[in-house]
Formats: sequence, structure tokens, C-alpha cells
Amino acid sequence: MKTQILKYQDLDNPLIQKLLKRKLNNGGLVIFPTETVYGIGGYACHKKAAESIYAVKGRPSDNPLIVHLACFSQIEQYAYIDNPAVYVLANAFWPGPMTLVLRKKDIVPFNVTGGLSTIAIRIPSHPVARKLLELTNLPLAAPSANISGKPSSTTFSHVMSDFEGKVDIIIDGGSVPIGLESTVIDMTKDIPSILRPGSITQKMIEQVLDSSVLDESDLKIGVPPKSPGMKYKHYSPMAEMTLITGESDTVISFLEDETLKTQGLVIIGPTEIVSHLNQSMVVDLGSLSDLDTIGKNLFASFRKLDELQIKKAYIIALSEEGLGKAIMNRVIKAVNYHVIHVK
Ligand code: TXA
Ligand code: MG
Repeated sequence: MKTQILKYQDLDNPLIQKLLKRKLNNGGLVIFPTETVYGIGGYACHKKAAESIYAVKGRPSDNPLIVHLACFSQIEQYAYIDNPAVYVLANAFWPGPMTLVLRKKDIVPFNVTGGLSTIAIRIPSHPVARKLLELTNLPLAAPSANISGKPSSTTFSHVMSDFEGKVDIIIDGGSVPIGLESTVIDMTKDIPSILRPGSITQKMIEQVLDSSVLDESDLKIGVPPKSPGMKYKHYSPMAEMTLITGESDTVISFLEDETLKTQGLVIIGPTEIVSHLNQSMVVDLGSLSDLDTIGKNLFASFRKLDELQIKKAYIIALSEEGLGKAIMNRVIKAVNYHVIHVK
């Protein structure tokens, strides 16, 4: 298949608009940037589109997709709103990096929701995603645009390396602003529950709702996770990667010893730690005082290990405060629960 590459400006061209509508209506796939990560989109009510998404990603078909909409007024075509808190959250955080799980309506095929009677919905804020959703006026099922198990794509070049020649169209939006997937919140019960942490934190949600919410996203070392997408190996580079926890000073001396012992060992971590290491094989994620930058660099750092064909890497743990929670959630999955606690 020849993949057509488009730029943001192309979306103003009536011929391109027609092409996008035709491809999507016929079950074709279009990769587009969102503010979180790139998504691989297909028409959510077209059975073949969901099948193609699962096939091209190599994704297990019981792991449900997120349906993206242009505006809130479209929701009731696809889902029931049982909890009034949906309106409050939508008002506060949409368009933006939040996904709500609601009871699905019959129009949505079960293959989009992985056989579940619920549907995950998101209204993204990225101008390219918005434009695409508005001009096609279609609900777009779009998981993160990465081969299943690999890190999500945060730049155009990540998308190209995974999907060139495998999808109809890729829209180049450069690098995305957030770099971590949306916060997923289950709204089907009385008390909202966070299934996947993201840049909209528990604290932010509780503040706008003025009540506490549950957090079911916790990945505890040794305890199998419970939401569908959480049980699969995720975000993993080819390198054997291990999470290093402990006090800064002990971590620094441990890493210095380890780099002497192990040739080709790469250390990924915040500036405050890696700047103390006397070796060149480090990936600096950014300063602890700027977690947004660390979040944005995380998946690219995993992909870099693959590009450099690194065999072994250590990644330094961060505090789970604020955005740290979402970052550490991805890291724990990426290391596949391999952890060394340095004392
Ligand atoms: O930021 C994002 O959410 C990106 C962009 C493209 O929008 N999308 C994304 O999709 O991360 P994906 O498919 O990689 O992750 C969807 C997550 C999975 O963990 C999945 O299990 C969960 O949402 N999910 C989807 N539908 C669900 C449902 N009905 N109930 C519970 N969890 C659901
Ligand atoms: Mg994903």
C-alpha cells in the first residue's frame, strides 16, 4: 500500500477533504496527531475499520479502542450518560487529554469496544485532530499509533517507522505537545474511577468535582493490573530495561559502579541524576522541576534505545506526585515490572 503524507495546511484543500472522507467512510485508516500521542484512526461504526486497526497494530482484539469526537453534542449518538459528573468533567477538560468510559449504544460495533458494553470517548484539542473530526463529521476510533507493545508515537518519524506503507494516510503534525496518553476515567458507576493516569491528574479531577474519585490505575510491582489495556506488555524497547529506585546519592554511586561493570549500559533519567554520571551513555529526560518535558521525552527515549540497538538500560524512578504518576505508570509497564531497589 502506498501511504499518502499530508500536512496541516492540506486539510483546507477541498480535494483532500473529499479524499479523507472517502477513505474513512470506506473503512480506511488515517494516522493523525493529537495533543497526547499520535492516533491511528478509522470510522468507529465501520466494522472493517476496527478490524484493520487491530490487524495493522498487531493488537489483541479484546483491548478496546477510544472513540474520538469533534464535540460534546455528538456523544449521545454513541453512549448513555448515567452520571451527571460527566457534564462537569467535559466542561472542565474537553477538548483535551481526557477519556471517559460510558455505557455504549447499539450503533457502536462490539469490535470497537473489545466486546465490552462500554465505550471510551475523547474529544481531543489538537488542531489537526479537531480539523479532521470536524471536516469528516465521523466518530474516529483511534488507539495510539504504535505497533502493539511498542512505545506510543510522539513524533511524525515514529509514526513513519511503524506504519509507512501500512495505512492510507498519515498527517504530519511534527511532535505532539504532551507525549503521554489521555487520562481514562470510568464514568459508568456512581463514583468516577481513574483507569489510566494522564496529564489530567486525580487532584485536578477531584477539584472540579468537589468530591473524591477512585484510582484503579495503580500498577503495583507483582500485582496483575485489572483494566483491559493494562494487562499487556507495553511501551517496551528491545533493550532489557530495569527501573532503579532509591535515594539520589545511593542511586548515583550504584549507577557509576554498574556502568563500569556492564559495557553498553544506557542510563535514562532526570538531569539532576544523569548530570552526575561520568559516562556518555545517558539519556537526559529533562529537569525534575519540569515534569511536562520529562513526560514529553519519555517515549522518544525508549525508541532511541531501539534505534541505537541498545541491549540493556536502567531508568531512574521519579516521585509519583502530579504528572509523575502518569510517567511512572508508563515506566513500570515498559520495564515489565523489573525493579532494583538500591539501598
Ligand atoms: O491519548 C490517548 O488516549 C490516545 C490518543 C490517540 O487519543 N489513545 C490511546 O488509545 O491511548 P489506546 O488504544 O492506546 O489506549 C486506550 C486505553 C486502553 O488502556 C484501553 O484498555 C482503555 O483505553 N479503554 C478503551 N475502552 C475502554 C472501555 N470501554 N473500558 C475500559 N477501558 C477502556
Ligand atoms: Mg496504546
